[in-house]
Amino acid sequence: MQRVHQELEKLASISASPNPSVTRIVYSKEDLEARAYFIALCYEIGLKVRVDAIGNTFARWEGKNPSLSAIGTGSHIDAIPESGMYDGTVGVFGGLEAIRYLMESGYTPERSLELLLFTSEEPTRFGIGCLGSRMLSGQLSLSNARKLRDTKNRCLTEFLERANFKGQLESVALKKGYYHGFVELHIEQGPILEKENIDIGIVTKIAAPSALRVSLTGQGGHAGCVLMNDRRDAGCAAAEITLAVERIAQESASADTVATTGILDIKPRAINSIPKEAYLEIDLRDTDVITRNKALEDLKEQINTICNQRNIESSVELLNCDNPAICQTDLVDTVQIAAEKLGLSHKKMISRAYHDSLFMAQICPTTMIFIPCRSGISHHPDEYSTPEQIEKGIYTLALTLKSLSGK
Ligand code: GLV
Ligand code: MN
Ligand code: MN
Repeated sequence: MQRVHQELEKLASISASPNPSVTRIVYSKEDLEARAYFIALCYEIGLKVRVDAIGNTFARWEGKNPSLSAIGTGSHIDAIPESGMYDGTVGVFGGLEAIRYLMESGYTPERSLELLLFTSEEPTRFGIGCLGSRMLSGQLSLSNARKLRDTKNRCLTEFLERANFKGQLESVALKKGYYHGFVELHIEQGPILEKENIDIGIVTKIAAPSALRVSLTGQGGHAGCVLMNDRRDAGCAAAEITLAVERIAQESASADTVATTGILDIKPRAINSIPKEAYLEIDLRDTDVITRNKALEDLKEQINTICNQRNIESSVELLNCDNPAICQTDLVDTVQIAAEKLGLSHKKMISRAYHDSLFMAQICPTTMIFIPCRSGISHHPDEYSTPEQIEKGIYTLALTLKSLSGK
């Protein structure tokens, strides 16, 4: 399995920031180069590759019975600014290694196996996560997809044309029953497996994410000459909203409510100028959708109150508000049996991060295989899983795929 580690290293070197950090924003030149690298490796082992209109990539190992619905695996290779080298990539290149391992062991699947590279699991460019799987599963309307803009007001189709992805957005959603099951291998991105010295996490539920974009407009002016009572400082309103975000999560009845203001920009950004505009992106999640929705409503109300008190104009856009995913028991059991056959310790767990599996679970039985990562660190250059941990995940995935594709 030496090659998969080398491939992950090579992939990490395709980055817009210097290693050890990795930055690979969807449709950037690094993303396109990394995709080409992945596709070349798929061709090397004879997989059939199809790329859809938004760049979701399907590498297919045709089964003996191609008319049967396929088994899917895979993840993403886009990486948020200055993050690590394992998030998503372990599921894509580990999936490839699992397929190579099965091929080399002489196995031929009954059902076709498809390895997926999903477009833009990360929300960096358009503010919305899981763009590829969201569209595959029909969870994003075409009109909303066409409305997507990055912070420079560039739309999705502009990027698609530039990247030379061909086809109609209409064709991205998969037909019902296309997949018989889907399993994603991923690093845990939390501390539990490492702390408890467990090899494999088997995901039973994925928490429900939501995100807001908030634009504030106040009144700019001279930092020396406008007296405090006369100000409409958009930066101060943004700061107050940020603290409200934190407070609402802290005061929620559920310990699972988490909320983050991940982006906070002010304009014009000059030390002697009162901020006339501010822009925030806020991420709010819970494992329970009712609790998450209540926190979201509280937050919107707080934003309103703060802006009224400060005489600030606000526009609040709900970017996404997704349901949690419940993983299918049979699939969870299949992963458990695979881990047991390999003599690996395992534990059922909830995923607090979202994944493409959140959306795959809407169209087919789905689960995830987690492996430990050092100190639970992720979305950070220090993200790390050992080669042994990765290999245990790959073997578990391979046995799971074998079992699912054999019938
Ligand atoms: C995925 O990257 C997440 O933010 O959960
Ligand atoms: Mn991520
Ligand atoms: Mn990920």
